[in-house]
Amino acid sequence: MKKPAAARITINEVDRGLWPILAELFGQSFDEPWPLASIENLMAPTGCWALIAEFANDEISYPCGFALARAVGDEGELLSMGVIPEFRRRGVASSIMKALARQALHRGVREIFLEVGVDNISAKHLYSVSGYVEVGRRENYYRRANRELVDALVMKVVL
Ligand SMILES: CC(C)(COP(=O)(O)OP(=O)(O)OC[C@H]1O[C@@H](n2cnc3c(N)ncnc32)[C@H](O)[C@@H]1OP(=O)(O)O)[C@@H](O)C(=O)NCCC(=O)NCCS
Repeated sequence: MKKPAAARITINEVDRGLWPILAELFGQSFDEPWPLASIENLMAPTGCWALIAEFANDEISYPCGFALARAVGDEGELLSMGVIPEFRRRGVASSIMKALARQALHRGVREIFLEVGVDNISAKHLYSVSGYVEVGRRENYYRRANRELVDALVMKVVL
C-alpha cells in the first residue's frame, strides 16, 4: 500500500499579483473582511514585502498563512501575520517567523519590532518562542470588536 505523502510547509515571498489571496488569508485569520484596498494601503510605504505560507503534500497545496513586513535601513517591522483556523497548531506560524527572519537579514535588517495585544495569548507565545522579548507597552492601542480598548506590547528580536 502506498504510504501517505508527508505534508510540508513552504513559505514564499509574493508580488502584487497574489495580493487578492493575501486579502483572503488576512480576512480568514482575523475573522473579519479585509478588502484588497486595505492590503494595498498597508503595503504602500517603501520597503514592504509579503509572504504566503502553503501547506502541501503530493496531492494538494493550500495557502494557509501570511505575513506582511517592512524594512527601513537595519530596522524591520512585522506589520501583520496570521494562519487560517483550520491550519493552526501545525507549525505554520513558526515556519513563517523563521522565513521572515532569513528574508529580513537578507535585506540588511538587524532587529525586528512588532506589536501584539496583551490579550493575544497565542501570538504572545509564538513571538516568545521565536526569540522576541518585550521592550515597551502602548496603552489602549487596539479597539476590539466589543469596543474594549486593549494595550499592545512592543516586542523585538535581534537577528
Ligand atoms: C498566532 C497564530 C499566528 C499562531 O499560528 P500557528 O500556525 O497556530 O502557530 P504554530 O503552530 O507555529 O505555533 C507556534 C507556537 O506558538 C504558540 N501558540 C500557537 N497557538 C497557541 C495557542 N492557541 N495557545 C498558546 N500558544 C500558542 C506555541 O508556543 C506554539 O508552539 P507549540 O505548538 O510547540 O506549543 C494564529 O493563532 C493566528 O493566526 N491567530 C489570529 C491572528 C493573530 O493573532 N495574528 C497575530 C497578530 S499580532
